[in-house]
Amino acid sequence: MRVLVTGGAGYIGSVVAAQLVAAGHDVVVLDDLSTGHAGAVPPGATFVKGTLRDCAAEVLADGVEAVLHFAAKSLVGESVADPAKYWSNNLGGTVALLEAMREIGVRTLVFSSTAAVYGEPEGPTVRETDPTRPTSPYGASKLAVDTTLTEFGRLHGFGAISLRYFNVAGAHSLDPGWLGERHNPETHLIPNVLAAASEGRPVRIFGDDYPTPDGTCVRDYIHVTDLADAHLRALGACRTGQHQIYNLGNGAGFSVREVIEVCRSVTGVEIEVETGPRRPGDPAVLVASSAKIQSDLGWRAERDLRAMAADAWSFTQARSSR
Ligand SMILES: NC(=O)c1ccc[n+]([C@@H]2O[C@H](COP(=O)([O-])OP(=O)(O)OC[C@H]3O[C@@H](n4cnc5c(N)ncnc54)[C@H](O)[C@@H]3O)[C@@H](O)[C@H]2O)c1
Repeated sequence: MRVLVTGGAGYIGSVVAAQLVAAGHDVVVLDDLSTGHAGAVPPGATFVKGTLRDCAAEVLADGVEAVLHFAAKSLVGESVADPAKYWSNNLGGTVALLEAMREIGVRTLVFSSTAAVYGEPEGPTVRETDPTRPTSPYGASKLAVDTTLTEFGRLHGFGAISLRYFNVAGAHSLDPGWLGERHNPETHLIPNVLAAASEGRPVRIFGDDYPTPDGTCVRDYIHVTDLADAHLRALGACRTGQHQIYNLGNGAGFSVREVIEVCRSVTGVEIEVETGPRRPGDPAVLVASSAKIQSDLGWRAERDLRAMAADAWSFTQARSSR
């Protein structure tokens, strides 16, 4: 199948594009390189540099049958400082993509939604039926896309699936090389702990007095290769006229201290820790229930925290040795 991967020069989109190529699909990547890297587009995929607004129609018209949509801005802090950027890029860009799809007759789409649509959770385990009360323009812009997809399903016959990721980590092995996280700024825990290890500086923990077993926040992490597998399953499960929503996590959380301990073990570096105050709005525990995607699509996370840290470390080492 000929598939369009928007944002396929970014972290997650590049890994999914690689898996789609490996599965025999004809992949075209559309990315404006605002946060992505041309070198991350995997071999075998065609790359078009451009924005959703300017280029989606032309790319879709060239025989595309389905879309995997990753292109977005995704920094919570930046979205609070500049909400218009998030509404314009994440919602406006997506509406331009959906309108181009509708005009050309492409109606199958898998969308990168996020745990940020739920906001402050009511309980430790988040289900798809929980209330959506995003606390940032980033989360709100993603929720607005989810709502738009429900309408495009009902009114225009789209078959769409939104996958709500929690924390994505690790790197994907290509032969040769790796695809991994290259965000700037990097806000994710594992790459930041590994950067501290390779630069010999301490890592900062925000609060160690939470009601958790070791006092630090507990979060749900999944390996980017497992996440890519879920996208391929979702692509085959889109149904005309329906918008389905699935959480993606491993169902068990890891504390910040557990993550640091695994990173120490993987790197062999005694990473020093500095403890600061809690950050406002950080819930103690945030874990996804992935029961729905397990039962509907047969997906479950296969790779553990050690694999995430070890693969991310291999990616870091491979980059620094270049
Ligand atoms: N990384 C995570 O842990 C995580 C968690 C939840 C949800 N998500 C979502 O997953 C998706 C991918 O995240 P990522 O970590 O790979 O981010 P990323 O920044 O590495 O990738 C996003 C890509 O989209 C491109 N892009 C952005 N706006 C564009 C536009 N208008 N037109 C064309 N290209 C554009 C960027 O250049 C970049 O290559 C995002 O939608 C994000 O909101 C990520």
